[in-house]
Amino acid sequence: MDLPSKRECLEKIKPYVPGKPVDEVKRELGLQEVIKLASNENPLGPSPHAREAMQKALQEVCLYPDGNCFRLKTVLSERLGIQNEQLIIGNGSDELLKLLSETYISYGDEVVLPEPTFAEYEFAARIMGGIPRFIPLNQDFEIDLEAMRDAINEKTRVVFLCNPNNPTGTIVRHRQLYNFIRDLPSRVIVVLDEAYSEYASDPYFPRSLDLFELGKPLFIMRTFSKIYGLAGLRIGYGIGSPTLISDISRVKEPFNVNHLAQVAAEAALKDDLHLAHSRTLVEESRRQVALGLEKMNLIPVPSYANFYFINIKVDSQKAFSLLLQRGIIVRTGDVFGYPTYIRVSFGTLKQNQLFLDALKDVLEELAGKENTC
Ligand SMILES: Cc1ncc(COP(=O)(O)O)c(C=O)c1O
Repeated sequence: MDLPSKRECLEKIKPYVPGKPVDEVKRELGLQEVIKLASNENPLGPSPHAREAMQKALQEVCLYPDGNCFRLKTVLSERLGIQNEQLIIGNGSDELLKLLSETYISYGDEVVLPEPTFAEYEFAARIMGGIPRFIPLNQDFEIDLEAMRDAINEKTRVVFLCNPNNPTGTIVRHRQLYNFIRDLPSRVIVVLDEAYSEYASDPYFPRSLDLFELGKPLFIMRTFSKIYGLAGLRIGYGIGSPTLISDISRVKEPFNVNHLAQVAAEAALKDDLHLAHSRTLVEESRRQVALGLEKMNLIPVPSYANFYFINIKVDSQKAFSLLLQRGIIVRTGDVFGYPTYIRVSFGTLKQNQLFLDALKDVLEELAGKENTC
């Protein structure tokens, strides 16, 4: 059948290949338990308050959700000390990226982004015909703001920054970021993705809301998918000036965020205890996993997030398959341009230990194979 040709810019987009569902992996490999440490989710699950709120709201799903997410915006704006008009709620922060690029990126516009970083920035730019300019991280795996500034020209429309950065977990600090944004021309929008910011305990981690005082176009994105444990509901939020938010809202669908997601997010926000537990677990996990890796002579990139990027010094695809056979799913580094690295999310302390034991096993098996070759 003849089809009209698709838009040219889509040629460069590789469709996202989702990982296999855990149940499918169990069935295929005949495993009782499979531990997914590949998407930086919260192993503690959602807050009990969020579960309760969803139970109560089940009866209401016959109605369309509130297209303006008024209650959630009100709770968020009170907590953040901003106005409702500075907020937009998205079907995950993924949707917010798309809305931003649909609003501001035209064919041939350039976007500047670190490499490696979260893949959706490139996707968001490309669907609108934007041209990504990738700026390698520095030797400490940190975002190189100076090189990013040098890459900005009159065609640049958007700069993407991920803080902490996915997949490395490294951060940029307040003063650096402040100076970077201060010196940008006002036609360039800075997208600051803080999906993992709740885990970054560094005293110099940016107080990102203070950056609005610079009067530059800034869009901060946060999500309920990570520390709040609501990834399956798809909900995140963006913060910008009322004008930027009103511009982005033009391309938003009327009912983009479902009702259960809205009530769960509102309840989750109020559960400080769940947040504190989740944070403590990640801090303990960082120590536990670093120590376990040290025993294998491996050193992860120092991380401020809930995952480690680790050079395991062997082909990560091979290690991935062997880990999978042992019921552990991680992310291979080849997709980020680092074929001997893996990115592993922290699980519960028990799951972390199972990962460490499995990795030790796998590395021994691969070393054995190499010796016999
Ligand atoms: C840096 C970063 N931003 C955004 C997201 C997506 O978040 P959401 O689930 O809200 O779409 C992820 C998910 O992996 C991420 O790593």
